[in-house]
Amino acid sequence: EKNGFRSFMDKEIHDQPHAVADTLLGRTDINGRLVLDDLRIDESVLRSVDKIVVIACGTAAYAGHVAKYAIEHWCRIPVEVELAHEFRYRDPVVNSKTLVVAVSQSGETMDTLMAVRHAREQGAKVLAIVNTHGSTIPRESDAVLYTHAGPEIAVASTKAFLSQITAAYLLGLYLAQLRGNKFADEIAEILDDLREMPDKIQQVLDRADHVRETARSMADASSVLFLGRHVGFPVALEGALKLKELAYIHAEGFAAGELKHGPIALVEEGQPVFVVVPSPRGRDSLHSKVVSNIQEIRARGARTLVIAEDGDDAVLPFADEVFFVPQSPTLLAPLLTVVPLQIFACELATARGLDVDQPRNLAKSVTVE
Ligand code: M6R
Repeated sequence: EKNGFRSFMDKEIHDQPHAVADTLLGRTDINGRLVLDDLRIDESVLRSVDKIVVIACGTAAYAGHVAKYAIEHWCRIPVEVELAHEFRYRDPVVNSKTLVVAVSQSGETMDTLMAVRHAREQGAKVLAIVNTHGSTIPRESDAVLYTHAGPEIAVASTKAFLSQITAAYLLGLYLAQLRGNKFADEIAEILDDLREMPDKIQQVLDRADHVRETARSMADASSVLFLGRHVGFPVALEGALKLKELAYIHAEGFAAGELKHGPIALVEEGQPVFVVVPSPRGRDSLHSKVVSNIQEIRARGARTLVIAEDGDDAVLPFADEVFFVPQSPTLLAPLLTVVPLQIFACELATARGLDVDQPRNLAKSVTVE
């Protein structure tokens, strides 16, 4: 079943171009308009939604963070992202004008399910982005957008994450279409960009030797930091989570802008730091700020491991290693930039002789609160 791969995780990382392509498949009607799978919410309700709250746990919550940047930009609706267990146990302000988006690979995560029930009791509509057909969360939701990642066996989520991000983009574009925030041709253009992503993910996989060698050379690392900004921030958080889960190494992700508000004190000689750099073709100031962050931490002795877009030579003077990914629109870049981090964690854990499919203390689906 592993198709010659060393682990399910390795296989699932390599399945990602398909997972994203399949999630994009068949989403438009004959008029080129986006459609959702199972929508039991009146379109007029979706038009009047004044807030979106994404609820999820772990990796699925990081997909929600990426969704926030895209949906706010495309639809001009405020989006909050909250861990399901935190949402459930405070007194969240949700009502019939709130769209709650529950993201879950398994569709069985108890924390997320309890939050779904709570949101519906408050009168909110719930849309589920779920991978497992027939699971409980979509059954208890008002609408479903399935990710088509196929079964994910490894405990650490990889292809489900990329599919969740893809589905969230589709949801954002669907709402923009419905609410008239964007013209049909603008939406078609973004969809075209999205359809190019599977090939680009494949290119990242084809170039993975460098990240694998780097991971093997770091099997003894005791702490790795991850920095990112904008959509690179949730990517940094996800990179850190993968390393904790699989390699049992202390890892933390930070928003790069937060560095001087505290975390830079952690940087000492030899500290490995991954930095996810936004496209230099996007907002200029964003790119240059992250490049200065690399410079700052390097000056304090950090070993800088940089993920940057092809052609971004500005990072070269300050990077100990650079992992280049193909060019893409800024909002779509997480589908590429997270892949080297997944491979890094998988390879490093393997080099430490660990079982990457079944990390200690973890279960694939957390069905208790
Ligand atoms: O099945 P779900 O997507 O609801 O699971 C949520 C988290 O438990 C899950 O993403 C977890 O963080 C993974 N082990 C991450 O690799």
